Amino acid sequence: MAIPQSFLDQLKMSCDIESVVSGYVSLRRAGRTSKGLCPFHSEKTPSFFVYHDTESFYCFGCGAGGDVISFIMRIENLGYMDALRFLAERAGIPFPEEARDDPSLKIKPLIFEINRAAAHFYHDQLKSEAGAPGREYLMGKRSLSTKTITRYGLGYAPPGWDNLRGFLRGKGFSDEDMLLAAVVARGRDGKSVYDVFRNRVMFPIVDIRKNVIGFGGRVLDDSKPKYLNSPDTPVFKKSRNLFSLNFAKNVQDGRLILAEGYMDVIAMNQAGFDNVVATLGTSLTSEQARLMSNYAKEIVIAYDSDGPGRTATNRAVGLLEEAGLKTRILDMKGAKDPDEFIRKFGAQRFKMLIEGARSVTEYQMGVIRAKYDLGSTEQRGAYLQESADYLATVASSMERELYIGKLAEETDIPRDAIRESVNRALRRNLRKARKKEEESFESGRNFARAGHQADESAQDGLLACLFHHPDWRGNIIARLPENALSEAAAAIYQAILTAQLEDDGSLSAVGRRITPEQMSRLAGILARVSDGQLSITPEALEDYFRRMQGGRLQKEIRDSANLSMDEARALAEKIRQSKKV
Ligand code: GTP
Ligand code: MN
Repeated sequence: MAIPQSFLDQLKMSCDIESVVSGYVSLRRAGRTSKGLCPFHSEKTPSFFVYHDTESFYCFGCGAGGDVISFIMRIENLGYMDALRFLAERAGIPFPEEARDDPSLKIKPLIFEINRAAAHFYHDQLKSEAGAPGREYLMGKRSLSTKTITRYGLGYAPPGWDNLRGFLRGKGFSDEDMLLAAVVARGRDGKSVYDVFRNRVMFPIVDIRKNVIGFGGRVLDDSKPKYLNSPDTPVFKKSRNLFSLNFAKNVQDGRLILAEGYMDVIAMNQAGFDNVVATLGTSLTSEQARLMSNYAKEIVIAYDSDGPGRTATNRAVGLLEEAGLKTRILDMKGAKDPDEFIRKFGAQRFKMLIEGARSVTEYQMGVIRAKYDLGSTEQRGAYLQESADYLATVASSMERELYIGKLAEETDIPRDAIRESVNRALRRNLRKARKKEEESFESGRNFARAGHQADESAQDGLLACLFHHPDWRGNIIARLPENALSEAAAAIYQAILTAQLEDDGSLSAVGRRITPEQMSRLAGILARVSDGQLSITPEALEDYFRRMQGGRLQKEIRDSANLSMDEARALAEKIRQSKKV
């Protein structure tokens, strides 16, 4: 479907790549480039660059690259058209009418409509006579108030295989529509269609725009599975949404509480804490950590106090700190989770618990301490060693000093001795980090070169020349040796030509005509031009032509085992000639 050029131009003018990327990555500007930590892979030293001259980005670590549209496609997990819509919405530009006729763009509003109708149905069921078991569970057993139930739109899915299906059919939705929203599923026979949620209390999952994007459903007893969550659909991505963020986002005190379960979030809300979120039945992802960093500077982790809760806490700490968030950990004693704590000890005690949440260091030191028996000399030594190793990972020297003091007191070992072993570990880590950085820099460079051996880098150079110097086009077309380009390079070459002849020849115009992988490669090429690794002078172009010839000759030489004497002689002559150039 054609998108009017005027719309694309307008979009491009309003969506400066740096400001769009800044919404996801904290960028530091240096001259014509900005750099930051790549949002597409996990890293500690920045290898993600934004180039202002070409309005492109490229990561030397993972090879992701492209223009502002490719960026949104990747980070929001959208197709090309949806990425355009997303950017248009962000910039407040109306999306062209004809584009709206694309059927794939109607799916999301349809699913939202079905989800909303389903949420109403479940909620009305809860309030009706049939909802008695649900009310008994939520209000009786879990002490939720009517107000809380209304606020969260909680509901009840009655037993039976087609209550919801019948209701939605009455509203004019087809089975196919309902399957898209995943509120019904298809039976093993491949024909019958039945309600997914039966005899469960229902938790609608609402995004920050107040769309119902999915559901969690809990059984009323001890049967399994305890929770059933909607599968991912076109509107529901478990890894990039958070339960209750629609409420939490309005709290402006820079702090969010992260809990494990829906019930914890709701209980905390009822106790007066609005700034609480939970993941959607999966463990925390880096995307969710980034999402939280849009709303808060500090996260208090309020996971369950059991073993799995601790493991999950350790994982979450790493992800949150990587997202630049200050993290504290709730030390919950006497209850397995926040919901139980509040019910046992009340909201006031819970507030104190939050205020007293421990720093990550304090928490980790406590975890280490619990592993050792200080009565044994041997264990005391091991305890000190592990503590020193851990403290060497703590960035603040003041904080390190504080715990060195505590350790000295606890073990009766002189402060200086402990400090020395922390410093030793620090030096060791520094050496390791330097080495790793060198390696990762090298591997980044190598990655950029991957698949670009010898003649491939010449192909990249040629593409760079064509992209940056449309006036050399005639010369390049005329002199490009036959079959000199690999399949991917040929696709990029064609796209650049077409984009220059039919459009403005910008990266975005090329991007529309190639795959995301090819776009990454082109962005990598442009990144290397900006960095001065790839030259686009007339002399360089000559060199690229020569090397592409050479590459072809080498291939012929490799194949020469099957040549006749005469053919071999002709080839040798060709090689001599090529060296004279
Ligand atoms: P209660 O047991 O009712 O207090 O629920 P909870 O919210 O405290 O749940 P729990 O701590 O057991 O689990 C935390 C979260 O993990 C839940 O909110 C669900 O999102 C998810 N979860 C728990 N059990 C299951 C399950 O059986 N299947 C799936 N898919 N998710 C589950
Ligand atoms: Mn619970």
